[in-house]
Amino acid sequence: MMLDQTQVPLLAAMKKYVHDDVIPFHTPGHKMGKGMHRVLGDLMPLQTLALDLALMAELDDLHEPHGPIKAAQDLAADLYGADHSYLVVNGTTGGIYAMILTIAGPGDKIIVPRNAHRSIIGGIILSGAIPVFIQPEVDNDLGLAMGVTPETVSAALKQHPDAKGVLIINPTYYGVATNLKEIIDIVHACNIPVVVDEAHGPHLKFSDRLPIQALDAGADIVAQSTHKIIGALTQCSLVHCREGRIRVPRLKAMLQLVQSTSPNYILMASLDVARMQMATQGRELIEKAVDLANKARQEINKIPGLYCFGEEKLGNPGVCSMDPTKVTVTVKGLGLKGAEAERILRHQYKIQVELSDVYNILFLITLGDSEREVDALVAALRDMAATHHGTRDFSAIREIYTAGKYPEPPEQVISPRDALFGNTCMVPFTDAAGMICAEIVTFYPPGIPILCPGERITQEIIDYCHALQNADMHISGPEDYLLKTIKVVD
Ligand SMILES: Cc1ncc(COP(=O)(O)O)c(C=O)c1O
Repeated sequence: MMLDQTQVPLLAAMKKYVHDDVIPFHTPGHKMGKGMHRVLGDLMPLQTLALDLALMAELDDLHEPHGPIKAAQDLAADLYGADHSYLVVNGTTGGIYAMILTIAGPGDKIIVPRNAHRSIIGGIILSGAIPVFIQPEVDNDLGLAMGVTPETVSAALKQHPDAKGVLIINPTYYGVATNLKEIIDIVHACNIPVVVDEAHGPHLKFSDRLPIQALDAGADIVAQSTHKIIGALTQCSLVHCREGRIRVPRLKAMLQLVQSTSPNYILMASLDVARMQMATQGRELIEKAVDLANKARQEINKIPGLYCFGEEKLGNPGVCSMDPTKVTVTVKGLGLKGAEAERILRHQYKIQVELSDVYNILFLITLGDSEREVDALVAALRDMAATHHGTRDFSAIREIYTAGKYPEPPEQVISPRDALFGNTCMVPFTDAAGMICAEIVTFYPPGIPILCPGERITQEIIDYCHALQNADMHISGPEDYLLKTIKVVD
């Protein structure tokens, strides 16, 4: 049954409370803004601060909802097609923790892509699960990890029939989607759940020109960063689930475990409003964003030295469909690294990218953009390309990738949790063969970890890391970012 999606039950209850002019003897201590220091108070009108309210009967309790929060969650479930939806104020990070804790406990195997966001590794550490890593496909020209293929998932399931579930990241940060429906069918044939990190997909449902959203492809639990792409405030996410393969009470318990008992009502109200906005205007707003992004892509591809990948990549391994609103501009043709282009755009053109990596810069086009911003972006890129056309030798990086396969994940000796909480010490990296790693080591591109906590370090991996360092590739993760030493289990 379609509910009345024009309603915003949580915001309405909050507004009523404020209008009732109650004397608040409750948290937060700033008492609806009256006690807030002017340094911040001057920037936030009392009208806004008055909405910073606390758990009470008429405003409902996120952890035991039966009033306006329950109504807001039911509306979200109705819109997205879930059996149940949950407001999350600890980012998709919190949602992912809860998803993993729902399907896997200590010692349970869970199949996850190797290029997992740190929240996935965090969830695995919290749960004590054993990750079975699968490799995403890599596009060497772009230096980017793409999706995992159905074949890769199928092979992992055959090798690990005792896995308790599969986690898929879809779409990637760069908007690349794999054949999710086929993957979900394969996993469900083994009678285990699929949980999807859909941090970059809360808008997918609202345009036929976007990849299929995970719930529609049959996923069992999905976490979406409502704050990243659509109108909610930073930190806001939605978790949706389907009954059948997961225990819903356990998901609720895990969401309680990873979230504050004092969730911010303004954040939750922003989720309520973002849902209403999508329900009432979503198609129009998202179609417009897709049009703008397509226009930007077309114009950027006319600029010598720049490349903005698009539909020509469809059909490549791990690329089944793509979200055009993620505009990835490859700048290596200008002889620039992504971080250099990022700095130029910020300081010479007052344009801030979403992120940069070695070859690329990423721009998000959302419902908040118009022709004006896109025109400014294209003009800045055109000017940057005209003034910074140089050459740089990226062959060292290219050679490493084309020479050999990206190394397979090493042997998982103990769980990431045991590696993290065990006694650890720093040893010279060159002497670390045979030891158990206690941290993550990732090189960019393409951002796939080479070592994760609990894995056996081999001489082959040490040599490979040295080759990547010699090629001047960016390293992320280890405490000693020069990798002269590495943290190992003592
Ligand atoms: C793929 C992916 N998953 C999860 C997250 C975590 O989301 P949040 O920042 O909302 O906690 C991110 C954040 O960038 C992400 O890119």
